[in-house]
Amino acid sequence: AIDIDKLRGATGAITIDPGYKNSGSCKSEITFLDGEEGILRYRGYSIEELADKADFLEVSFLLIFGELPNKAQLEKFENDIRKHTLVNEEMKTILEGFPKTAHPMGVLSSLTSALTAFNPKSVNVENEKEMYEAVCKTMGKFLVIATWTYRRRMGYPLNYYDNTKGYVENFMRLMFEIPTEPYKMDKKIVDALDKLFILHADHEQNCSTSTVRIVGSSHAGLFASISAGVSALWGPLHGGANQAVLEMLQEIHDNGGDVEKFVLKAKDKEDPFRLMGFGHRVYKNFDPRATIIKKAADDVLDALGVDDPLLDIAKQLEKVALEDEYFKARNLYPNVDFYSGIIYRAMGIPVEMFTVLFAIGRLPGWIAQWKEMRLNKEPIGRPRQVYVGNALRPFKEVKDR
Ligand code: ACO
Repeated sequence: AIDIDKLRGATGAITIDPGYKNSGSCKSEITFLDGEEGILRYRGYSIEELADKADFLEVSFLLIFGELPNKAQLEKFENDIRKHTLVNEEMKTILEGFPKTAHPMGVLSSLTSALTAFNPKSVNVENEKEMYEAVCKTMGKFLVIATWTYRRRMGYPLNYYDNTKGYVENFMRLMFEIPTEPYKMDKKIVDALDKLFILHADHEQNCSTSTVRIVGSSHAGLFASISAGVSALWGPLHGGANQAVLEMLQEIHDNGGDVEKFVLKAKDKEDPFRLMGFGHRVYKNFDPRATIIKKAADDVLDALGVDDPLLDIAKQLEKVALEDEYFKARNLYPNVDFYSGIIYRAMGIPVEMFTVLFAIGRLPGWIAQWKEMRLNKEPIGRPRQVYVGNALRPFKEVKDR
């Protein structure tokens, strides 16, 4: 509760809404989300239909430009992205400056920011051509540097984009192909990854997207704004949850698989532990993305012939938590990232890269939201506060303190 007597310095009425639980920061035409009903739509199309029928670049085009592309537009988009997949060679010296143990999200955020130095031309958003070029440049270069973070960790040489392959296929190749062993593309993996990227592609004003919009609202460039978004996504309460979920499931497994013990721990208010992958700021009945991913986890593991004990633990944990009064009373359900890590793991993706995958998926959403913010000529984001500190005090010399 706010002590009115302590309010000093406020001019006029200021609402206070920590975490912006009830504040809208903008009007947007991009993503519709109904948390009570568990509905998610991009530009009016249901997430279920898009995940089933579209591919990631089609969805990216839809989010960024507002309409599904026709065949020619889609081919042009893919081609124009390809043109921008070469990353300045000097960026490699920056990459080499990081310790191999650095977390890939920290490296990705820094490299994205460094792209500004090699692409200094600021984006004139009134000029559609320049805006289109900035979009393709970001889609192309971000994918490549995202894979560099893994190659650096592994000490592998860097790969170049293959123009004969698709965007998501290229991601797998850029990550895993090594000179001594040609990479065998598994269509099932590429299709599943494509679907996961679609499910992560936008989610209205979440923490990282709001960050991208607010940084961009000072007219910082697209790369600078996206770099800030990557940092915001990294935290375990947001995108970092996918890594945290898998580590939690592994810990439960290593402790004999006692899910009830961990549910008890999550309910203990003295214990900071939370069930990772549970709960959502907006969804209060279910997260529609989690429903799709849960099914995909079963299908992908089946198709790849993988039997992962962590999937069983995840299912048991979900069952116990959903029947528990604590979780019921607080409307806590599995979110998008409860099952995604299990799929990534089955694809052979290392756990530290999980949040990077989220960032690749979220990229078109960040770009779309940044573009909308600039085209709408939104004012600089600058919330107010309620000051509750000291009133005016006389300064004391050091000797008198
Ligand atoms: N485990 C245990 N208790 C929880 C959890 C959880 N995962 N999530 C929320 N709660 C409890 C809180 O302790 C609080 O209890 P109280 O009312 O008794 O104090 C109540 O539920 C409400 O939680 P808030 O933190 O106020 O909810 P908020 O909307 O601020 O947070 C969040 C949402 C951050 C997602 C939260 O549920 C959480 O930390 N979940 C775990 C991390 C996670 O999975 N993040 C990914 C989110 S999806 C995404 O970004 C892709």
